[in-house]
Amino acid sequence: MRHLLTTKDVTRDEAISLLDVAEDMAATQRREIKKLPTLRGKTVVNLFFEDSTRTRISFEAAAKRLSADVINFSAKGSSVSKGESLKDTAQTLEAMGADAVVIRHSASGAPRTLASSGWISAGVMNAGDGTHEHPTQALLDAYTMRKRAHGEASRGRGLDGMHVAIVGDILHSRVVRSNVWLLSTLGAEITIVAPPTLVPVDVSTWPVTVSYDLDDVLRATPDAVMLLRIQAERMHDAFFPNSREYSRRWGLNDERFSSLPTSTIVMHPGPMNRGLEISASAADSAQSTVREQVTNGVSVRMAALYLLLSGEREELL
Ligand code: CP
Repeated sequence: MRHLLTTKDVTRDEAISLLDVAEDMAATQRREIKKLPTLRGKTVVNLFFEDSTRTRISFEAAAKRLSADVINFSAKGSSVSKGESLKDTAQTLEAMGADAVVIRHSASGAPRTLASSGWISAGVMNAGDGTHEHPTQALLDAYTMRKRAHGEASRGRGLDGMHVAIVGDILHSRVVRSNVWLLSTLGAEITIVAPPTLVPVDVSTWPVTVSYDLDDVLRATPDAVMLLRIQAERMHDAFFPNSREYSRRWGLNDERFSSLPTSTIVMHPGPMNRGLEISASAADSAQSTVREQVTNGVSVRMAALYLLLSGEREELL
């Protein structure tokens, strides 16, 4: 594959194939083969214009476990504060030998601009752009669901017959967009649950059912409930409903959590607002996959970097 910018055009076969490569990567980690020589001599640049804990560190760990060199760039403390453009920043880093650029940016479309502008020749991975997409988060979410559903028999399978409820700040979430495209391609049925003020206007074009009533959706016992963070930093107007009302009506509180069958998994991409969209007991329960998602993220990003940099496939997108 040349770049990974979106999950929208990823075919079912391509997605399953990437998840299967991630299975292979996870197997090497379990056998305590901590480092594979696969990408020796390659350089991965983490180009982060927005804050991150999980994604940046996960990409760094993934690249290092494949023996690639890693250069970490954070806009904070860089010449971006002096007005240096995305083009000049990217070209400066490529001049230091970047084979792949992993970019997070507050502007939706920044990774595509980098990939299609001809400014750099390196492969581009979208690590989250504005409210647009976060493809590797969706891939690690799909991997986690498939693993919980099928265990050691996961290889080669999609998510057919699974019902996934995605709850929360749909409007500002890049995670939901990448998940909607990917999970539907893999055969899952998706219900979006949110206050009407946090549902995007174009949701009617998405392959989902929309509900404003979390209790109603939970009564249908979905296989997975994915809570999304309330993104206060992206709220330009007052957050409505307010936090107390949100938590009461759309939060996975203790009462709602205890009503779920033990087979329903509870997911969150992180970082979590405990007590707002998810209670501490739900987040820390055996049904929670929050930390599993982080662990799986390294294997999935190893697979994505491997496919991008090994020349194994020309195009995923
Ligand atoms: N899930 C996620 O993208 O987390 P970070 O913002 O910490 O990378």
